[in-house]
Amino acid sequence: MTKETELEARLEQKERFEPPASFIEQANVSDPDIYEEFEENWPDCWERAAELLEWDETHDDVLVDDDEPFYEWFVGGRLNASYNCLDRHLADRGDELAIQWEGELGETREYTYAELHREVNEFAAALRELGVGEDDVVTMYMPMIPELPIAMLACSRIGAPHSVVFAGFSADALATRMNAAESEYLVTCDGYYRRGDALDHLSKANEGVDGVDHDTTTVVVDRLGDDEPHELDDTQRDYAELVESQSGADIDPVSRDAEDMLFLMYTSGTTGKPKGVKHTTGGYLSYVTWTARAVLDVKPDDTYWCAADIGWITGHSYIVYGPLALGTTSVMYEGTPDYPDKDRLWEIVDRYDVTQLYTAPTAIRAFMKWGSDYPAAHDLSSLRLLGTVGEPINPRAWKWYYKHIGDESCPVVDTWWQTETGGMMITTLPAIGDMKPGSAGPPLPGIDARVVDGAGEEVAPGKAGYVTVNRPWPGMLRTLYRNDERFLSEYWEAYSDPDADEWVYFPEDGAKIDDDGYITILGRVDDVINVSGHRLGTMEIESAIVGVEGVAEAAVVGGDHELKGEAVYAYVILEDGYDDDEAMRERIVAGVEESIGPIARPESVVFTPELPKTRSGKIMRRLLEDIANGEELGNTSTLRNPDVVSDIEAKVRGD
Ligand code: WTA
Repeated sequence: MTKETELEARLEQKERFEPPASFIEQANVSDPDIYEEFEENWPDCWERAAELLEWDETHDDVLVDDDEPFYEWFVGGRLNASYNCLDRHLADRGDELAIQWEGELGETREYTYAELHREVNEFAAALRELGVGEDDVVTMYMPMIPELPIAMLACSRIGAPHSVVFAGFSADALATRMNAAESEYLVTCDGYYRRGDALDHLSKANEGVDGVDHDTTTVVVDRLGDDEPHELDDTQRDYAELVESQSGADIDPVSRDAEDMLFLMYTSGTTGKPKGVKHTTGGYLSYVTWTARAVLDVKPDDTYWCAADIGWITGHSYIVYGPLALGTTSVMYEGTPDYPDKDRLWEIVDRYDVTQLYTAPTAIRAFMKWGSDYPAAHDLSSLRLLGTVGEPINPRAWKWYYKHIGDESCPVVDTWWQTETGGMMITTLPAIGDMKPGSAGPPLPGIDARVVDGAGEEVAPGKAGYVTVNRPWPGMLRTLYRNDERFLSEYWEAYSDPDADEWVYFPEDGAKIDDDGYITILGRVDDVINVSGHRLGTMEIESAIVGVEGVAEAAVVGGDHELKGEAVYAYVILEDGYDDDEAMRERIVAGVEESIGPIARPESVVFTPELPKTRSGKIMRRLLEDIANGEELGNTSTLRNPDVVSDIEAKVRGD
């Protein structure tokens, strides 16, 4: 064995990695006593998070729990999020970069804090002139262009909550979300670039607006320029003209109550209807700022890069609000990681001397497949910390990331959290805890996350159970927009005991815990699947498929996928008189793309005359998952129709 392969073998076997001494020396948080301090001093420990912000008025109470589980944080406090992300940095850091943006074609745009502040003020003034008032929900439907965070910050400046809809979602998905939020304003753009091609986005936005059941005003950013001209109708305004017309405007940041809504984010759940997760100004902003500082080690002089999309919660918390509240430089990249070549990310890290990289396991698995020559061709020595989020990371991908991107000298934080939690919940602190590939780590200081059985009792180490969070935290969702009932039933019913005043949050993830308190996340236990780190509801996909003419019934499950983590498997029953041919398959795929978007496209559509059902008529999803994964099937004798299983299996295997 050469020395190198021997070292390689050692790395493969190693299961614990200590934080590098060079990292510990300079870390924002490096004292292990923090866990105990938070424990002894809970909930007042969260003052530490609030103190990272500037408040117009300090809170009277850290936590009010008179009406559990409708918790309130930093009660009586007032602040403005855009002030905290912009104005307060102007004196010392006005000329430092806030956003370092790179387009897919290679063009760049840089915004200093002063420049970002200027444009946010101008757009805030424009929004006001269009009629946007405090508490009006403004929807954004935009790809990764600087105008997206600008619009978000402009909204937060005037106290208008935003609701960002991922640009990859369909027109239908946009309409559903605008209707649900009764949002009368939309900010979108004409198009963007993907793999070098200009994509039309405005037609999709227009089609979405057509499906909105009230009047709307749309602002359109011209991303594509003269190459791809577009037209505006009389409900639409040009972004640049609006900003220009407000040149030099100053808008006083509106002082918001800590509990006022900062934004809404629609996410997938068990039923077909997306859930409007409500986040607040004081608790959310404190929490993401605290976690960005403690876990991602963000410092003002860093060039920090979260390679997620702002259309998801990760981008809200860790591209926009957390990093900008800390006054750092946040990198934004518009395009795909393999355009023009598979080293695009490494080229960006090299060019801007990126200090932290935070990305998803699905991307890491793709990099690993493309091979280590791509990162090896670039100088990545500026990196100090690596992070992952969104789905479980397998130890092999973890080790590849640690070695080939981090050069074995960067801590890797595997951060578990959700749209609902606002920010990170379970992860090692990078200067304190040893890393164990595949395991997220212990709950963060102040977070009481446990692994329990169906009855809520903590399970023995090594046994599978469910994650629960047994104490509130500042970044938690406050409710589902205009649907307190669903908030209670989705998250609190399973494990709480209202009579005993015990309130337990259930995130719907499976997990195991080790002797040392490290938690390994095993994935969702509800009907939500995680495709390339994107959260999708199987019921949403099923209702899209059933909407296709000729489809009688559909069942969708997640099957294992080497790169995507999970992929969409659809089992479809057709109505009499329709053929299970390629044309039908294409119509089904198109139907899903139309009602949700290409991210939900089925990997496989299997036509079957029946679905496996229990005697009480419930579809046996577990069985369909096992079939998709090519696994041994357990006992099928409890089925009403056991014969159908072997038929489906044969079809999947292509017999
Ligand atoms: C999954 C994304 C394992 C989990 C921030 C969760 C993870 C869902 C991890 C939330 C991780 C997120 N390890 N699984 N480090 N992080 N998940 O709302 O199933 O888009 O419930 O938020 O992603 O997805 P969401």
